[in-house]
Amino acid sequence: MAIAIMSSGGDCAGMNPAIKYFVEQSILKKLNPYFIYDGLEGLIDNKIKKVSFENVSGIIHLGGTIIRSSRSKRFFDKKYRLQAYKNLKKHKITKIIVLGGDGSFRAMDVFYNEFGIKFVGIPATIDNDIYGTDYCLGVDTALNMIRNAVDAIRDTASSFERAFVIETMGRECGYLALVSAITSGAEICVIPEIANDLDYQKEKIQFEMQNGRKYLLAIVAEGSKKRKNIKKWCEKELKIETRVTILGHIQRGGNPSVYDRLMASSFVKKSIDRIIQKECKGEVVVYKDSKFEFKNIDEITSNKYKLPQNLIDLYKDSYCQKCKG
Ligand code: F6P
Repeated sequence: MAIAIMSSGGDCAGMNPAIKYFVEQSILKKLNPYFIYDGLEGLIDNKIKKVSFENVSGIIHLGGTIIRSSRSKRFFDKKYRLQAYKNLKKHKITKIIVLGGDGSFRAMDVFYNEFGIKFVGIPATIDNDIYGTDYCLGVDTALNMIRNAVDAIRDTASSFERAFVIETMGRECGYLALVSAITSGAEICVIPEIANDLDYQKEKIQFEMQNGRKYLLAIVAEGSKKRKNIKKWCEKELKIETRVTILGHIQRGGNPSVYDRLMASSFVKKSIDRIIQKECKGEVVVYKDSKFEFKNIDEITSNKYKLPQNLIDLYKDSYCQKCKG
């Protein structure tokens, strides 16, 4: 039985440990593992290869994905999906494990309905913005990358008595910014999900400045689109010289953390066990309340991820008096 793995959309740490585990476990279960290189683009272009242990030796500690990834516009066109199906048919592949986000899972669902190619999606994105799962592969490593960067910025911020506005990734989701702000002790945090309370933050910071605070850190989620405003606000309202750092793609790289390696193995184990069952069609494996389960693609894509209440409560305590009502 042939089974393939593919990464699709933004890469993240944890994909390589998942790919390694996939190959090794498939062989142990007497399945024939294949790589689809370059995501959906590679599926269209027949970049499909049968693999074995040597293809995955020495990759567990590497960030990114050795099978590469893409965001495919062509896959929206049925002509290219048919081409992709014909490629899979040549290799007798009827099952694919997809490391990616909800857009990729939706694309695979369309593909399943047209051609019957089964898939299990593994949530893998640093944004942690997929409905139905508490955790997406890559998030822990991204948070540790951010932590390292913020610690380094703190060194220069304190040496020069400056404010730093640090922008994190995450698309419309403030998860990375919020967790990073709390765990780095940032004075200001701005995320798209909660209206910010700059009056409260100003009062709090001014009090601290009157009592010895000499520098400050503001962590701002890209989805809030407030980076420039916060810089101006710090200069005008707090009268402190301010610099901006956009962390950018550094957040997507780095060696996978222990947690991401472990989660990679668990997500893949569940996915293989599920995809070989007859009743499996197209599903997503999620990690919810410390348990793995499977969710239907419609449920995932028709709902919006919400930040967990415990994080919202922490945000309110530190950054938003008026949210407390
Ligand atoms: O979805 C992952 C992500 O890194 C987002 O946080 C970010 O907005 C986007 O991808 C960047 O995309 P690209 O790599 O195409 O610039």
